[in-house]
Amino acid sequence: MDKLRISGGRPLEGTVRISGAKNAALPVMAATLLAPGVHRLRNVPRLRDTQTFARVLELLGAKVAFEDHLLMIDTLGVNSVEAPYELVKTMRASIYVLGPLLARFGRARVSLPGGCAWGPRPVNLHLTGLQAMGAALDIEHGYIVGNNVKLKGATVGFDVVSVGATVQLMMAAVLADGQTVLENVALEPDVTALGEVLIACGARIEGLGSRRLTIQGVSALRPIDATIIPDRIEAATFAAAAAMTRGKIRLEGVVPDHFEAALRKLEESGCAVQRGADSVTVTGPARPQAVNVVTQPFPGFPTDMQAQMIAVCALAGGTSVIEDTIYFDRFTHVPELARMGARIELKGNVAVVKGVDRLYGAQVMATDLRASASLVNAALAAQGETLIDRIYHLDRGYEALEKKLGALGAQIRRVN
Ligand code: EPZ
Repeated sequence: MDKLRISGGRPLEGTVRISGAKNAALPVMAATLLAPGVHRLRNVPRLRDTQTFARVLELLGAKVAFEDHLLMIDTLGVNSVEAPYELVKTMRASIYVLGPLLARFGRARVSLPGGCAWGPRPVNLHLTGLQAMGAALDIEHGYIVGNNVKLKGATVGFDVVSVGATVQLMMAAVLADGQTVLENVALEPDVTALGEVLIACGARIEGLGSRRLTIQGVSALRPIDATIIPDRIEAATFAAAAAMTRGKIRLEGVVPDHFEAALRKLEESGCAVQRGADSVTVTGPARPQAVNVVTQPFPGFPTDMQAQMIAVCALAGGTSVIEDTIYFDRFTHVPELARMGARIELKGNVAVVKGVDRLYGAQVMATDLRASASLVNAALAAQGETLIDRIYHLDRGYEALEKKLGALGAQIRRVN
């Protein structure tokens, strides 16, 4: 199994081009099922997760071809409505095919995703929303099954702000009979980007960027021809690496507003941040300062940056308090950071981080995508060598990470 060997203690310097966003590409890939035809998606990151989603689409009968970062998906020949457990268990977002299959074929058999490294991640809002739109859904042997479904417009209010449930219902509603109103929706840039892609294909959606969407169903959509937005979490992860290594990194091909909450926290910890139209330069301080963070849905501080921010605060002057309000037990990185000398006390969904002067290289294990990113950043700042095991987690969401970090002066190698 691949590992990363990192020799730390060097400031990272230079320019890095940010890839397309995994969490924006996956729903757009699902949306290709809504319209039979050849779809063109540009700036698609080459990741394990986009490969997995391509595999799901192929199993449904689509033809999928990558040419560098251009993804062509031909959904004319889609002839199956089953998304198998073997694939869905490896990537929860596979459930995004459910709404489009019900909308286009009136049938679907999609495995329930099951849990993940950090606790239960229910999909009840996806199911209750689709049921409100008239979908009779059964759970059979771990599969969500729907037959003879004719989706119709409805008003659906989400108890919790959910990215997944929002995109699921948006895709179900664009071809439904009548008008759907979605209330308390997620505002993440991936959601807005999906809305813009659907509108460009002929969908009728009002209220994008607000917590209330009104969607008038149409009879058909045109194939997608779109460019995936840049990955704000990848960008913010590099920014955090600059903060921890006294580095200076220019992030190119970004939308600064998409990760403003993370940039503001890094500024509060002492970074200098220069925002351009499509670039951001982050200069790390001699030593970061302690900050308090509470994760929230966009535009609040993203839970997908919680682990990386805990790593920054592990080296800060003072004590930081970091609360995750989205996932209460997303802290599997904490014991691994402690192996590198971090002092972090967990109290429920709150991490109290007492900053230390330095971290030390150690053998550590990646447990999920963002936890592994925090270990990479900690290793880049640490004294000595770190060996990170199970980096397949990283490959799910960071494209060519060691190549990009190497170009910034990092001593990093993939070994097995
Ligand atoms: C998306 O997951 C992202 N994944 C996650 O990023 C991210 O952590 C999360 O949004 C929050 O920002 C993708 O976009 C593929 P949610 P999702 O539905 O859609 C509860 C990464 O690192 N909830 O917004 O699964 C849920 O338990 C990944 O790239 C329900 O209760 O998250 C959570 O507390 C990890 N019932 C909250 O809502 C539901 O039916 C937000 O979850 C759905 C969600």
